[in-house]
Amino acid sequence: MNKPTIFITRKIPEELIAPFQSQFTITMWEDEKKPIPKEVLYEEALKADGLLCLITENIDREFLHHASHLKIIANMAVGYDNVDIDAAREYGVTITNTPDVLTETTADLTFALLMATARRLVEASNTIYENKWGDWSPFMLAGADVHDTTLGIVGMGRIGEAVAKRASGFNMNVLYHNRSRKEEVERALGLSYVALDDLLSTSDYVVSLVPMTSETKKLFNQEAFHKMKTSAIFINASRGGVVDETALFDALKHGHIRAAGLDVFQEEPIQADHPLTTLSNAVLLPHIGSATMQTREAMLKLCLENISAVFHGAKPKTPVH
Ligand code: DGY
Repeated sequence: MNKPTIFITRKIPEELIAPFQSQFTITMWEDEKKPIPKEVLYEEALKADGLLCLITENIDREFLHHASHLKIIANMAVGYDNVDIDAAREYGVTITNTPDVLTETTADLTFALLMATARRLVEASNTIYENKWGDWSPFMLAGADVHDTTLGIVGMGRIGEAVAKRASGFNMNVLYHNRSRKEEVERALGLSYVALDDLLSTSDYVVSLVPMTSETKKLFNQEAFHKMKTSAIFINASRGGVVDETALFDALKHGHIRAAGLDVFQEEPIQADHPLTTLSNAVLLPHIGSATMQTREAMLKLCLENISAVFHGAKPKTPVH
């Protein structure tokens, strides 16, 4: 019997694929760094039975119509706003994502970004590289304290919980807002559930961990930034689309909030001429939330395990629908 063909939309290490070679014929896009061009993806999808894709691929209705024969599309990310889930359901294509394996790693980065923004680490480091470290002075590169402050987490999923756990080590008072209240988590982690407006107006740090949906699109807009304290720091480690970037730029430029740390952007990748790069109170990272060797390998492994389960007639470990 012919082995099913799996197409992977980026070059990944051979050793990750090796355990699955006996089950599948595996082909890959040849580039490790550059996304596959749309026409090549369309062509390769027709030859495949299953697909492993990244967030750089737009798995929209048009693609799903074109490749409705695919049994599974395993998306290497916990977020799946690059996939039209309704269309996938209609065409009977199973979609999986990669929750859990990246929770702690993404929480580490979220907290690191919060601290880097509060203590102006990038600006401070640049002072040396740019040969601008002058004499010591009392307020040179003075930032904001993290310990004993109030953290407001918007979106209390697994990553939100992991960030809240880190915050307890800094003696932070943790507030959260979520679509649904999570009383058990509140009790276990000592969190307080508050309305979004209250969270915005009382938090020293506002951290976005909401998924990108039609309800969260530009949730952090001018109104939201104006509700925050002028000393507040905004952190986004979820999706760029939940922020109105023009409003954020204005809020940072005109002192409506103190600073922002961003790992994600409306349109990625951004370039050095992006307006936010002109601000010294913004710390910008190139979407590296889950980027550790261990976690990226675990994400790819989970994708391949999900694919394997589906071709063995079993339920995948982490289906989206
Ligand atoms: C995710 O998993 O959704 C990240 O943003 C990509 O690693």
